[in-house]
Amino acid sequence: MSVEKIYIFDTSLRDGEQVPGCKLRKEQKVAIAEQLDIFGVDVIEAGFPISSPGDFEAVQEVAAVVKNAAVCGLSRAVMKDIEVAAQAVKNAVHPRIHTGIGTSDSHVKFKLNTTREDILDRAVAAVKYAKSFVEDVEFYAEDAGRTDNEFLARVCEAVIKAGATVLNIPDTTGYCLPHEYGEKIAYLRDNVNGIHKAILSTHCHNDLGMATANSIAGVENGARQVECTINGIGERAGNTALEEVAMILKQRFSHKYTTGLNTPMLKSMSYLVSDTMGMPVQANKAIVGANAFAHSSGIHQDGVIKHRETYEIIDPADVGVDHSSIVLTARSGRAALAYRFKELGHHLTKDELDIAYQYFVELADRQKEVIDSDLEILYSEKIYVLA
Ligand code: KIV
Ligand code: ZN
Repeated sequence: MSVEKIYIFDTSLRDGEQVPGCKLRKEQKVAIAEQLDIFGVDVIEAGFPISSPGDFEAVQEVAAVVKNAAVCGLSRAVMKDIEVAAQAVKNAVHPRIHTGIGTSDSHVKFKLNTTREDILDRAVAAVKYAKSFVEDVEFYAEDAGRTDNEFLARVCEAVIKAGATVLNIPDTTGYCLPHEYGEKIAYLRDNVNGIHKAILSTHCHNDLGMATANSIAGVENGARQVECTINGIGERAGNTALEEVAMILKQRFSHKYTTGLNTPMLKSMSYLVSDTMGMPVQANKAIVGANAFAHSSGIHQDGVIKHRETYEIIDPADVGVDHSSIVLTARSGRAALAYRFKELGHHLTKDELDIAYQYFVELADRQKEVIDSDLEILYSEKIYVLA
């Protein structure tokens, strides 16, 4: 079986940045975009150029500095939006316009107050207009997750005919379950004439905590681009987390799929985005959280010290973490204590370890974590004096 490329479309600077408190200045967007390019993402969605003059300039600047990735600007299916997006990305090495419209009954009736036929016409007109500026035009069917599959297929077929190169199928509201989203992608793959001329893309939100699972279900059913953000930032509960997709594909699917990502940069990309946006990463966040490679219970620590893979499925080096950490708490055992003393250069005998352990558990019951300086004091006051 041949290994297929999965294109990674990073929307941290657009869907991620539209979150309250995450807004970035132009220089910050440019700095992140440069790192994303080195990291190996295939597409950088740099912003929504019509939304403000500042965002227009930021997209323009990103387009000017990015060397490898396609640089994409978002627009609604509105001619003025498309013109402005085209202007903003025009100096990119690989410019892309991302245009689209709501397709679910809820969007058609309540948001856009129109008919399905009108949506079809507007979608086609938008893609044709975008195509007059750039070759690479991505179409999004907003709220595709709740859109009737037959109508969605008609829209997809029409925009492919109009020249769309990528079909984005967003689960805008994070409504779908993995099997439903997978079936939707499979339906489009099997029922849209001309589907081979375009790449199907996932764009999943995390309202039910399913964004990553849905994206992978999409890939397993024919999608070849995944839209995601660093740390899973994004509207409401966020978007699919790039680091999760990257490591699922690398860890579980390397026989089938590959990405161009340099995964040892994952941890530093996570820091960069979190620091620049002032958006902390939860400690137990998969792959990049502070505790993702930390072990604190005695049973797990004993296992990891004997053989890392007993409790770790990812090599920390693969995501840019120096090593797994053995955290000392009241749940830790003798093996962990001896290990941490050894790391500090103190090789304790069995008797010394027994004494140290008594003092350690008393201390650990009083504080959340026992750190190196506590161990040094314990060693000099209770062990060294015995020698
Ligand atoms: O979630 C969504 O539907 C979007 C589109 C604008 C692509 O972000
Ligand atoms: Zn979105």
